[in-house]
Amino acid sequence: MTAAAVAAEAARRRTFAVISHPDAGKSTLTEALALHARALTSAGAVHGKGDRRGVASDWMEMEKTRGISVTSAVLQFAYRGQVLNLLDTPGHADFSEDTYRVLAAVDCAVMLIDAAKGLEEQTRKLFDVCRHRGIPVITFINKWDRPGRDALELLDEIEREFRLRPTPVTWPVGIAGHLRGLVDARDPGRMLRYARTPGGAKEAVEEHLTAARAAAEEGADWEQTAEELDLLRETGAVHDEEEFLAGKSTPVFFGAAVSNIGVRLLLDAVVDTAPPPSPRPVEGGGSRPVDADFSGLVFKVQANMDPSHRDRIAFLRVCSGVFRRGTTVTRAQGGKPFATKYAHSAFGQDRSAVETAYPGDVVGLVNATALSVGDTLYSGERAVFPPMPTFAPEHFAVARPVDVGRSKQFRRGIAQLDEEGVVQVLASDRRGEQSPVLAAVGPMQFDVVAHRMEHEFSAPLRLESLPYRLARATDKAGAEALNGSRLVQGEALTRLRDNRWLALFPSRWQAGSFEREFPAAPLEHLVAAHE
Ligand code: G4P
Repeated sequence: MTAAAVAAEAARRRTFAVISHPDAGKSTLTEALALHARALTSAGAVHGKGDRRGVASDWMEMEKTRGISVTSAVLQFAYRGQVLNLLDTPGHADFSEDTYRVLAAVDCAVMLIDAAKGLEEQTRKLFDVCRHRGIPVITFINKWDRPGRDALELLDEIEREFRLRPTPVTWPVGIAGHLRGLVDARDPGRMLRYARTPGGAKEAVEEHLTAARAAAEEGADWEQTAEELDLLRETGAVHDEEEFLAGKSTPVFFGAAVSNIGVRLLLDAVVDTAPPPSPRPVEGGGSRPVDADFSGLVFKVQANMDPSHRDRIAFLRVCSGVFRRGTTVTRAQGGKPFATKYAHSAFGQDRSAVETAYPGDVVGLVNATALSVGDTLYSGERAVFPPMPTFAPEHFAVARPVDVGRSKQFRRGIAQLDEEGVVQVLASDRRGEQSPVLAAVGPMQFDVVAHRMEHEFSAPLRLESLPYRLARATDKAGAEALNGSRLVQGEALTRLRDNRWLALFPSRWQAGSFEREFPAAPLEHLVAAHE
């Protein structure tokens, strides 16, 4: 395949994720998006709840019992001649580290906001991650069929809190709870009117109205829309592709995912304005063009997605070149060959082998025991993508096997969960191998560890929480100073994943005391999830 052909395949791909606070309607929107598009991968791999619960959300028994989504799925579908890859992000804040990794594999994010609630806690955190990674964000204000906030007020909130200029692409006719239709701000002389179908079909019927007819039939609602659109134009709130790609503005859409209102316009925006895969920075400077030799990034490793196959899947985002199943590529970390025989477009339990994949696509590598999160695979010219930052943990607990006779299984399980990135594992000579310290961004990560240690590794553990709340990176001398200090409460351990020294403190105040006592010792901030 020529470089030009690879570049053309890359150019028709859009790889994105939906970020939202739980309950804003992510599953509903995902289904509505898939409805418009032709699903390329196995049907039913949509996350859902209740009777809509799809294959993907049944991966872990725990998900069923807790009603939370801890695994991530990928949906691939075709729309207007383009290939869309929609990566799911875990909904719960405790898994923000996981979400961060998923966001490392997308080129754009759709931020979904509940019209009645506006910006919520999880929206803020996820948006911060997008900003940190320089990912352009499209905004969809959902549930406009229900009473909610004022449209202009919601835009103000986005601008004020995110320092992100909202540029509406669609605008509602009718206040929240009285949705008559939408106007495409680029074509304000027409109204798209929606009517619920008789018989309760979910999808609303769409009708095109001229401005004159809209004025005659919709009266005050249409008038208000026209006034607001004028106001928006005057203030220059107009979509600008360059500003959007630079993360300075966000195109805004309104709708009601549950009735499929506004969803097609959103999908059009993903195709028309979201960026295709672009050259990816590599370690040592420079970046790898999409039409270079094959390279890919492992952004997630998940064990036991399917209880009937005890397996481990590494999710690889293709960054450049063509991925071909059956070829042997190189794992940059360690330089060993890696055979790609078991490549699947496996999302959910239905698996089909994937033969080729292009930049932007995601491939599931089954039984990839040699791969860890953050690994680079490549062929031809060597490429190493920079390591993924880990979040600053805020919860710490000592793990001990309940049954000391199962300490081998215990060690194996802990090592595996560390490689998957389920928790961070910290070690110290003082504590020993049988009692590592687990560090998490959110306490629910500990529940996942306890559940999986018992059910997968048959090595139940006891967790004793530690009074620390804060972690900073330091060096060996800093660690020795902290471990030797009588004045400062804290402890230094090494993180298995990258051998970095982490200094743990019960409070910012104690970290401050340490800095005063040992001004020469480094204390660096890690990427913060909650700061
Ligand atoms: P999530 O994945 O973000 O957690 O949200 P999900 O799609 O499950 O949606 C949460 C609730 O919000 C669901 O109601 C869903 O039907 C509702 N919803 C989603 N989009 C819209 C919308 O545009 N308008 C309105 N009015 N509701 C919407 P539920 O009662 O929790 O579940 P269900 O029984 O309706 O499925």
